[in-house]
Amino acid sequence: MTVSKFPSSFSWGVATAAYQIEGAAREDGRGPSIWDTFSHFPGNVHKGHTGDVACDHYHRYREDIDLIASLGVDAYRFSISWPRVQPQGRGAWNDKGLDFYDRLVDRLLEKGLKPHATLYHWDLPQALQDVGGWATRETSQRFADYAEHMGRRLGDRVAAIATHNEPWCTAVLGHAIGQFAPGARDLQLAVQVSHHLLLSHGLAIQAMRAAGVKAPLGIVLNQSPATPASDSQADREAAEREYATFVRWFMDPIFLKQYPKAPGVNLYPVTHENDFDVIAQPLDFLGINYYTRIWASAAKPPVPAPKLTGESDMGWENYPQGLTDLLVKINADYKLPPIYITENGTAVADVVVNDRVADQPRIDYLRTHLQALRAAMEAGVDVRGYFYWSLLDNYEWNSGYDKRFGLIHVDYETQKRTPKDSAHWYRDFIAQNR
Ligand code: NOJ
Repeated sequence: MTVSKFPSSFSWGVATAAYQIEGAAREDGRGPSIWDTFSHFPGNVHKGHTGDVACDHYHRYREDIDLIASLGVDAYRFSISWPRVQPQGRGAWNDKGLDFYDRLVDRLLEKGLKPHATLYHWDLPQALQDVGGWATRETSQRFADYAEHMGRRLGDRVAAIATHNEPWCTAVLGHAIGQFAPGARDLQLAVQVSHHLLLSHGLAIQAMRAAGVKAPLGIVLNQSPATPASDSQADREAAEREYATFVRWFMDPIFLKQYPKAPGVNLYPVTHENDFDVIAQPLDFLGINYYTRIWASAAKPPVPAPKLTGESDMGWENYPQGLTDLLVKINADYKLPPIYITENGTAVADVVVNDRVADQPRIDYLRTHLQALRAAMEAGVDVRGYFYWSLLDNYEWNSGYDKRFGLIHVDYETQKRTPKDSAHWYRDFIAQNR
């Protein structure tokens, strides 16, 4: 199976996030984040793993940038650790933390790599959590101040700035299900948090624009199409509800200035006058993270997804067609800015044998998803770039280090990096599409 060629202007990249790779959790003035607190609390994370050391990227970023360059990509998506640059989440800035991101960005530029920065990839300064975190409206303003500062600092050199990464995860996994920091289990709270995240996004875009930030500005949302397990009305309504709370919950406020209505959805956040005017800022790009589809079954217990084309080590169904379906659907439903696929990837139980990692399932995942992406573009969706998740094996949140998403294997005992077969495949694929 071959994939038809991508436009020569198409951007190819790899993605990471601060807490998942940086380590150096207590160095150079970094303050604690909610993930430091959460990961150190017994029982929260698989085997008690924490991001204290992770891939030690804070010390090895030069070597890691060389690895990025060796893949032949032209772009790198990373996130800024808010508590590294502003340890208390308000007030004083930490020069050593700011310097780190200056060095990172400058080094990327030297290597001809476009830096795509994300401001919030889940590591809220613990000091802000202590006064309510995303449950309070004030945190949205703190975030806008932080965004403005980083926009002024890096906005002349980065290729893009995203406000949030996957706010659904912060709201639902962090506040309704308790799998992610801060570990709350309260659905009504999660709904309110989702609103404050959206508000903070709008305030941050306004603040960066007012400060004259030149870089394109956007947001990164995790999205999936929803397939009903059967044609029954109950399953179809379940699919509509899941799609509304997963995708439309964030898209409708940003692009239609309202929350979605769907069967069985009856919890809504408290909003203030003009909130939707703030949230619905025009964006320069939309980032989409796609991993799998939503399989919606109303039955108890639910009918499981078929997994005909395999599943990842996370247990997620491989469903490339969902990427085409999703992109075509949102392109029809909203008036969208250019899209980047800011994450797509798979976890494989990789092992190093004679300095080699034979990760054929990842190559298959990549090839089929790139083909699905190309199909969406041929159907008229304006997609400008693709970032594989992830550059390196890294800290997979509550799953710890055992789930490996990287193109490059990390031995956490030695910090040795070994490019997997998929890294070579991706490099060759990109070269053929230049
Ligand atoms: C989405 C998240 O943004 C990223 O942090 C995570 O590692 C991947 N999905 C894989 O689960």
